[in-house]
Amino acid sequence: MRIAVTGSIATDHLLSFDGRFVEQLLPDQLAKLSVVFLASDLQVRRGGTGANIAFGMGVLGLRPLLVGSVGKDAAEYLGWLADHGVDTSGVHVSETLASPRFTVTTDQDQNQIGSFYPGAMAEAAGIELAPLGALDLVVVAPNDPGAMLRHTAECRDRGIAFAADPSQTLTFLDGAAIQQLVEGATYLFTNEYEAGLVADKTGWSGDDILGLVQTRITTHGANGIVVQRKGEDDIRVAVAPAEQIAEPTGVGDAFRAGFLSATSWGLALERSCQVGALLATHVVETVGTQEYTYTGARFLERLAAAYGDEAAADVQPHLS
Ligand SMILES: Nc1ncnc2c1ncn2[C@@H]1O[C@H](COP(=O)(O)OP(=O)(O)OP(=O)(O)O)[C@@H](O)[C@H]1O
Ligand SMILES: [Mg+2]
Repeated sequence: MRIAVTGSIATDHLLSFDGRFVEQLLPDQLAKLSVVFLASDLQVRRGGTGANIAFGMGVLGLRPLLVGSVGKDAAEYLGWLADHGVDTSGVHVSETLASPRFTVTTDQDQNQIGSFYPGAMAEAAGIELAPLGALDLVVVAPNDPGAMLRHTAECRDRGIAFAADPSQTLTFLDGAAIQQLVEGATYLFTNEYEAGLVADKTGWSGDDILGLVQTRITTHGANGIVVQRKGEDDIRVAVAPAEQIAEPTGVGDAFRAGFLSATSWGLALERSCQVGALLATHVVETVGTQEYTYTGARFLERLAAAYGDEAAADVQPHLS
């Protein structure tokens, strides 16, 4: 099964400022603002939803095709993804624009000043899927909105199954755009909050949505996952317990990676959620979205501890 993951490929630059912004921002000088904060720490984190999802699938032994747009400055990052099993041949490299980057400075009061530069991501809207060869499933994760709409439309036109994963883009997309991204999806992924945004902005009821997508998966943070299909009982799956909570950023992407890997192995929905939940737990336990260490043996052990020996036995033949 050949899966394309479309979405952003970005880095986060996290700076720490040991002072307090309020002490450097003079209220009567704000019209001519020019301030420099001397940062005591810089962390550069690999991220981007497309890259995070493809990374997780690669770690689990799949070879997902990553589709997105970066600048020439991303060569090292693409190398990292390739080293983790990701096929990066679908990534467009801009001639002129730098890679998307989120830069944020946090002060000692946890106040933040941030900027997001989409840069080369805008060129993702120019990517056509057809030249990338036959695809069995296309994941449409947060990206340039034009790219998300284009990839979804192309899947619908060509009869390719797609997974709608609009996530954080739901906060700024309008109802009409959301309808175009969701209708006809094989899978719709959102968290609980985003499920509310879909309902509010489209006016769709829960039943309406189940009539428009094959399978709806809603994640509820530490409260687990609910899977819904029209005319069937809901499936509820508990999280895989974390040994420590370091930082949750990226858990949603890891869940999708694990879930989609398991469905591609032919496993049932409940089992696929369990695989997704355990991969998400790996992310909860580490700082960063692609920093977790994975071994097949330990993964099976933890799967058995959380969901029973049968779960591990079902997954074992698929792990290298
Ligand atoms: N505290 C936790 N312990 C264990 N697993 C967790 C925890 N929080 C989240 N998860 C796992 O991650 C999955 C996704 O979590 P959540 O619903 O918070 O996603 P999200 O809000 O999209 O996250 P993000 O956008 O920050 O990646 C959950 O279904 C669960 O399996
Ligand atoms: Mg999310």
